[in-house]
Amino acid sequence: MKKIILNNGTEIPEIGFGTWQTTESVQKTVKAALDAGYTHIDTADIYGNEAEIGEAIAESGVDRKELYLTTKIWNTNRSAQGVKYSAEQSLKKLKTDYLDLLLIHWPANAKQFDNWKDINAETWKAMEDLYKSGTVKAIGVSNFMLPQIKALLETAEVIPAVNQIEFHPGYTQQEVVDFCKEQGIAIEAWSPIGSGRLLKDEDLKEIAEKYNVSPAILCIQFCLQSGVIVLPKSENPENIKNNLHFERFKITDSDMKALKTLEETGFSGLDPETVDF
Ligand SMILES: NC(=O)c1ccc[n+]([C@@H]2O[C@H](COP(=O)([O-])OP(=O)(O)OC[C@H]3O[C@@H](n4cnc5c(N)ncnc54)[C@H](OP(=O)(O)O)[C@@H]3O)[C@@H](O)[C@H]2O)c1
Repeated sequence: MKKIILNNGTEIPEIGFGTWQTTESVQKTVKAALDAGYTHIDTADIYGNEAEIGEAIAESGVDRKELYLTTKIWNTNRSAQGVKYSAEQSLKKLKTDYLDLLLIHWPANAKQFDNWKDINAETWKAMEDLYKSGTVKAIGVSNFMLPQIKALLETAEVIPAVNQIEFHPGYTQQEVVDFCKEQGIAIEAWSPIGSGRLLKDEDLKEIAEKYNVSPAILCIQFCLQSGVIVLPKSENPENIKNNLHFERFKITDSDMKALKTLEETGFSGLDPETVDF
């Protein structure tokens, strides 16, 4: 699998397996993903499935060094102590002694906190401490929009390696993507298929037919061709395989433009500047 080199020299597989909202079936689906050849798994404390993922990995017998594990610090742990505690719990549940990538799941925003900049800076400092200790091979953020990422860079010693944001046809958050790329911050696409909402889009279906691929595969290729790491999720063994092993193809520039500008198709409705959690 192709890997992307992050700004600290570590490498990340360009396709990762998403595990949000798969609590009950996660052990089975992660096993199917590992059998299919995925080496990169994306989870989070708040998904409540790290222990099952740890179990699936242990049962698979796959060498830890062959895997790339990402997890995230939830919003209730935005503090020096909280980050340390959360990371320790994640390590235990995932049955590992290091994480490949740890992310701040959502930034504190101005809607909820007058001191949002300080909260994010303090959380980031704790992430840097973990990184320096070697327990975490790379650190990054998720859902950081321009105000939050710019503010963080004012005090950060370590530049985030990635920003994991909602990114898919119809919702590409181009300003954030362009800024992060300029700063050497890689973008990861969450909900690359719009949590399934994009599968019903007629314009997208029409473009997919031109390339003789399914709408889901078109979404994944769209992300890869945009230079973005992609995290598709599936609970269907066939889809799990196809999402990793499809024959790569090239979407024309005009179709890339058309896909980018499908009007907010598949948007989750979650704006990091206005969410209340
Ligand atoms: N950082 C964040 O705040 C954040 C937020 C959301 C998500 N994420 C991450 O991003 C990952 C992916 O996002 P997501 O969970 O919203 O889902 P997604 O990958 O955008 O879409 C999943 C949906 O697409 C369907 N699907 C997948 N492959 C398919 C295929 N080849 N053909 C037909 N249908 C297919 C799945 O159905 P089947 O099961 O039937 O295949 C499921 O309904 C998450 O799991 C999580 O790891 C992060």
